[in-house]
Amino acid sequence: MKGLKTVYICERCEYTSAKWLGKCPKCNAWNSFVEDVEESAPSSSAQKRTSVAYAGESHATAFSELEAPAYIRSATGLSELDRVLGGGLVAGSAVLISGEPGIGKSTLLLQICDTLGREKKVLYVSGEESGSQIKLRAERLKVLGSNLYILTETNIENILSEAKKIEPDVIIADSVQTMYSDIISSSPGSVSNVKEVALALIGKAKTEGISVILVGHVNKEGGIAGPKVLEHMVDAVLNFEGDKRQSYRIIRAQKNRFGSTNEIGVFEMTDVGLRQVANPSEMLLADRPTDISGNCAVCTIEGSRPIVAEIQALVTPTVFPAPRRTSNGIDYNRTCLILAVLEKRLGLKFSGSDVYLNVIGGLEIDEPASDLGIAMALISSLTDKKIPDSLIAIGEIGLAGECRGVSHVEQRVREAARLGFTDVLLPTHNAQSCPAVDGITVHPVKNIYDILKFLKGNN
Ligand code: TYD
Ligand code: MG
Repeated sequence: MKGLKTVYICERCEYTSAKWLGKCPKCNAWNSFVEDVEESAPSSSAQKRTSVAYAGESHATAFSELEAPAYIRSATGLSELDRVLGGGLVAGSAVLISGEPGIGKSTLLLQICDTLGREKKVLYVSGEESGSQIKLRAERLKVLGSNLYILTETNIENILSEAKKIEPDVIIADSVQTMYSDIISSSPGSVSNVKEVALALIGKAKTEGISVILVGHVNKEGGIAGPKVLEHMVDAVLNFEGDKRQSYRIIRAQKNRFGSTNEIGVFEMTDVGLRQVANPSEMLLADRPTDISGNCAVCTIEGSRPIVAEIQALVTPTVFPAPRRTSNGIDYNRTCLILAVLEKRLGLKFSGSDVYLNVIGGLEIDEPASDLGIAMALISSLTDKKIPDSLIAIGEIGLAGECRGVSHVEQRVREAARLGFTDVLLPTHNAQSCPAVDGITVHPVKNIYDILKFLKGNN
């Protein structure tokens, strides 16, 4: 087209270049350039003003007249999601939900339309599925929502004019990468289009008090496709994670202006949609193998909840010149650190073995309180000595091999007791301060030498 030229934009900082670059000269990000189209004539300020983002009316308010925010929150009908949002969907907020294709974003959002659509007007805009496809899915999910409106449209100007007619309280845009604006000449999904569409919807949320939920695709690196500023523009970024081959899904707040980012929501994908899992520990321990070496239970705190999970380690003689270390659900560097401590302090030889670590159920553990359990699972697999099934290990490991105290000890021990564990390994420091819990014997651990006696011999 005349007047258009191809440019390359850095997805991180929006630095524009006429040529593709491997490294951004502005923010130093590697491989962050995507192709876009720009109008060669500089857009006049008048044209800028017609941008949909500035369509809503706004005026400055004297600071003294500003009211302290009394957030109006609406329950979504899924308490697991409400908790991640900080207690429900806030009126006038913009939430971005990201996740891999097929993970269940559209399913989740359609399900919340049922509860939201009873008291509020909900406009579900889909740029990916037809009205009849959505209807079919809604019937399966038993979504009634008498106040639910479905719009299959990708042009943001049309979406906004339809929204003006319907006057919804909640707008769901599934997905922001499929939508485009007339004033941007590049294709849908390009950095400038994603930004413009998001700005328009966020502007509407802020000026009219509508809750806006945007669905964002992820790129091949796992980040949210589109400009990085998208994450700065919204009030909350929720990531929908999970292994598609398994039925469990975890929703986690990466950013939340209205609540904690530590909370997680756990769901299970069933043939009638997503089911909430109120007791993740029970779910994670459901298929727990018993009486086998290499397994150890740990307790991690996710937000306000203790979650018991099982670590599995497999240590086998290597056939590779450099032994393999694979960890699933546990930080790779943490794995290497624990292996190094075990080699140095206990003289255990892992250097001739491949090491595979896994957290059952697809949970990601990033709390050092699981170190002790990881170390035990590793030693158990290497030596082929079993860890009693009734035992759970809690504690952080330092570089000297010392076992360091952790927080929320009583909460963790109570959760372990609830699930039927009887023996808890605790750092000495925590063991002294932890109140007695019925049915639990606490074993203080000063350093990693102390854990060896809990491994049972070959039998
Ligand atoms: P979907 O919500 O469309 O994922 P996304 O919007 O994140 O791309 O669908 C997720 C998958 O879940 C899809 O492959 C089919 C499956 N599914 C079920 O197993 N049960 C159900 O009730 C529904 C609606 C979908
Ligand atoms: Mg979808």
